[in-house]
Amino acid sequence: MVFQSKLVRFPLMISLIASLGGFLFGYNTSVIAGAMLFLVNDLGLTIFQEELVVSTLLIGALLGALCSGFLADSFGRKKTLFATALLFFIGTFCLTTAVNFDELLLGRFLSGFGIGLASVAVPLYIAEMAPCEKRGVYVSLNQLMITVGVLVAYVVCYLYAERQEWREMFGFGFVPLLIQFVGLFFIPETPAWLISHKHPKEAEMVLHQLRDAHLSENLVEAERKEDAPKDQRWGALFEPKIRKAFLIGVGMSVFQQITGINAVIYYAPRIFQLAGYQEAQMATFVTMLLGAVNVGMTLVALWLIDKLGRRPLFIIGLIGMSMSLALLGLSFSGSEQAGVVAVFALMSYISFFAISLGPVAWLIISEIYPLGIRGRAMGAATFANWACNYFVSLTFLSLVTSIGAGLTFWLYMLISLIGLWFVWKMVPETKGKTFEEIQHFWKRS
Ligand code: BGC
Repeated sequence: MVFQSKLVRFPLMISLIASLGGFLFGYNTSVIAGAMLFLVNDLGLTIFQEELVVSTLLIGALLGALCSGFLADSFGRKKTLFATALLFFIGTFCLTTAVNFDELLLGRFLSGFGIGLASVAVPLYIAEMAPCEKRGVYVSLNQLMITVGVLVAYVVCYLYAERQEWREMFGFGFVPLLIQFVGLFFIPETPAWLISHKHPKEAEMVLHQLRDAHLSENLVEAERKEDAPKDQRWGALFEPKIRKAFLIGVGMSVFQQITGINAVIYYAPRIFQLAGYQEAQMATFVTMLLGAVNVGMTLVALWLIDKLGRRPLFIIGLIGMSMSLALLGLSFSGSEQAGVVAVFALMSYISFFAISLGPVAWLIISEIYPLGIRGRAMGAATFANWACNYFVSLTFLSLVTSIGAGLTFWLYMLISLIGLWFVWKMVPETKGKTFEEIQHFWKRS
């Protein structure tokens, strides 16, 4: 078993603490769907205000992603994780106590900012702590937690729906937050960041703690040779030896979003209603099932990611997603209601996403960049991720109204096929490679 050995227990524990940031990411992005049903009436929101409440989180996340790289490279990965927890705390506090639209908006913005920071800091922290041949599974704990957060949000909303308690729905977020906050005091800074900021003694101590000395020393050795501070400029992202890596990271982040995942995650109950499951309760139930499939298949990805490698998962996933989207489009194009075929196609789509673009896009951006600019490069790729997320969520319903659900899903299918071509041509295999080997690859290519 991957996690049984003593050597991996400490990295596992610290990765789990960090990945609670992923849980809060998943929870906060999804809880709004359930809470909105009731707070709209309670606070008397107009449609425009409703749209703002939903989209402000994404704006916050965009800005958070933009700042995250600079914070993580300058002040350290651990301090950035603390900043994330603080933002989540204030954000959740505003949301649970909000008595008007402005307070609600502030809460959504701050939580979004926290999500933006977490989406860079968590995978980055874990990647630098994990033994290289198990980096895939460790970093993907973040994605697992995102999916668990989404599922728990669906369940919490379902449970509180009868009593219409939207404040409790937001307030549940305090539970993982407090666990993470306490846990953060016990986790160390990453050796890679310590080395790059000239703290070799502290780095050695962390390595000792990691008890995986052989692998981790390799890692620090590798980073030492990179002359990291020289690279700490934004301009470094466009240097020839880094440009290709930068393009691949941004490309995979963009494809993760424009293949339509959040049209499904954010609008699932709506899609199920379009498919003929009119009753709200039924639609919510199928949505929970979708969340459970997402978690289950992410577990499968964790099992496969360091065995099969990144490229095969991307390729299998994108082929499966394209086929599922083709079927989904077909089910919505006929005159009959899409019904059970649509539900099957959606489940299949999310399964293929969960074993590929979901975890692997985050993983690849945490491992392909050189140390000096790793935070910034990840921040830029994550910014692209959130920008596309925003674009897809803004355009999905308009697309369905103007060209119909069938053509909309076929459009996502076409984009998935382009994504497949991109992976085939551009993305290298990084399974089992040290950071040093990955950097040598870029230099050679
Ligand atoms: C994506 C999110 C998405 C989630 C669904 C993540 O990898 O970044 O946008 O909502 O997966 O599981």
